[in-house]
Amino acid sequence: MASNKSRWCLALAVVVALVLCLGAPGVDSARILVVIAMPAPSHLIVFTALTRALADRGHQITLVCPSPKTDKLLPTHNHHIVSVQNSTVMDFKLKSVKKFMTGDKQDLISSMISFFNWGPQLVRATLLHPNFKAEVDTPNQKFDLVITEAFFIQEAMIALGHKFNAPVIALNPFGASPQINQFMGNSINPAWVPNLFLGFGGHLTFSERVINTVASTGMDLVYKFLQFPQQQALVSELFPSAPPLTDLLRNQLALVLVNNHHSLSFPVPMSPGVVEVGGMHITKKPKPLPKDLKDLMDGAKDGVVYFSMGSNLAMEYMPKQKTEAIFGALGSIKQRVLLKWDGPVPDTGVPSNIHIIKWAPQSDVLAHPNLRVFVTHGGLLSTQEAVYHGVPLVGIPVFADQDFNMRLATRKGFCEQVDFATLTQEGLSSALQKVLGSPSYKEAASLLSRLFRSKPTEPADLAVFWVEHVLEHGGAHLRPSNVDLSLYQLLLVDVILALLVPLVLAILILRAIFRWCCCRSKKGSSASGQPSKAAKAKKTN
Ligand SMILES: *[C@@H]1O[C@H](CO)[C@@H](O)[C@H](O)[C@H]1NC(C)=O
Repeated sequence: MASNKSRWCLALAVVVALVLCLGAPGVDSARILVVIAMPAPSHLIVFTALTRALADRGHQITLVCPSPKTDKLLPTHNHHIVSVQNSTVMDFKLKSVKKFMTGDKQDLISSMISFFNWGPQLVRATLLHPNFKAEVDTPNQKFDLVITEAFFIQEAMIALGHKFNAPVIALNPFGASPQINQFMGNSINPAWVPNLFLGFGGHLTFSERVINTVASTGMDLVYKFLQFPQQQALVSELFPSAPPLTDLLRNQLALVLVNNHHSLSFPVPMSPGVVEVGGMHITKKPKPLPKDLKDLMDGAKDGVVYFSMGSNLAMEYMPKQKTEAIFGALGSIKQRVLLKWDGPVPDTGVPSNIHIIKWAPQSDVLAHPNLRVFVTHGGLLSTQEAVYHGVPLVGIPVFADQDFNMRLATRKGFCEQVDFATLTQEGLSSALQKVLGSPSYKEAASLLSRLFRSKPTEPADLAVFWVEHVLEHGGAHLRPSNVDLSLYQLLLVDVILALLVPLVLAILILRAIFRWCCCRSKKGSSASGQPSKAAKAKKTN
């Protein structure tokens, strides 16, 4: 009896052990330092989608970010949060947002320079913050891996990998930027690969190729001579014993995860060290909506239009005449409108079909079958969520990547774009009528949705796989050798010369031999040569 029982126990123990083995991470629980410097909810959403998935695999996450510890977006399970809020950094962000929302036009160069100057501020504010010094930058801290935003004006963060003797993974909140291509060995030819920041489609016309080439070269030069030296100076200042930034980028940076998917942009060649994980933040199964929202959407017999300018662009900063245009356009349609407005809500002049909400579970709202159109600022996460659920867009881009996200969406046929600077009620109404009135927008959105969802692995699982791969193997084997070549080698100048020189020499030698032979034969026949000339002269006469 007792032996029978113990045999059962043994069998059970074996089964439990097997299940645990199969379910346990391939890599032992690792200590991962994740640093976000950018105070933008959209960045936090992308990063925490990854850290949540890593924490679920048993890894220990130290998450350094500029949000307060009480932020509802922040995970808790297996997470240690280090809050590095800084008022200077926040001021810059709020001022910029205000400027963009009020529609002040700035010249490109000065806004670019002030943006680049913000980079060192972000890095300093994070790495010199008292909380970072006390909780991360201590003598006995050990990490197996560092994950940072690196290619978003914070390349200096890669030196953290040197400090902790750990590989670094850069998670980019958007697609593969020109610098990611350059440092990770994506073979990019401006003849056909559109620069991410120009909003071109997959097939370039001649004039687009000219712009693509000139603009990309210009951006490269600005990066090389303006932004990179700033970041190098930061490395020298904050990590005096670290090697130069170029070496860090080559040896410490193991992998780049980009928040993009080729169905959303265009297919381009990717080195194995750059992995597209776009859509990590989207939960596959929509959660049930809160009761009031559900009733409102279920009961909308003409459908629902959802309006949101995202998490950064506070509606209260928008000039009155623009909000009036928006209310006017949305108030004149027969659909119910859900309008996300996070500031003080205007108490008069809100049309009766408009329901103002402070916050919405956006992805779940977009998943509702009655949703007809999403009026959006065109942030990448919103665009991804709309594509995932096959919802057509009216895009009102304001700043950053929003404009080229919406231009791409328009090219792909599921969006009508409205200019924010010259926003009028008529303009917005006409865009809304087009998207509500023609089935082509919905069809294009549904097609893209199927392409976006058709993947062998969920993006968060894919990201976790690659993080654990780097934990186990590093990233040196993922980098193509083109990163070690100089420009003349990449353009094959040396090879072309090496092939051309012998060819030219051979032609010259052959020509010399031929001439020599000719001369000899001429000399041999020189006696008959003269009369023949005379004969020719006679003939022509
Ligand atoms: C914020 O960070 C900057 C560096 O970017 C620093 O000079 C400043 O003292 C910090 N502000 C506070 C309040 O800690």
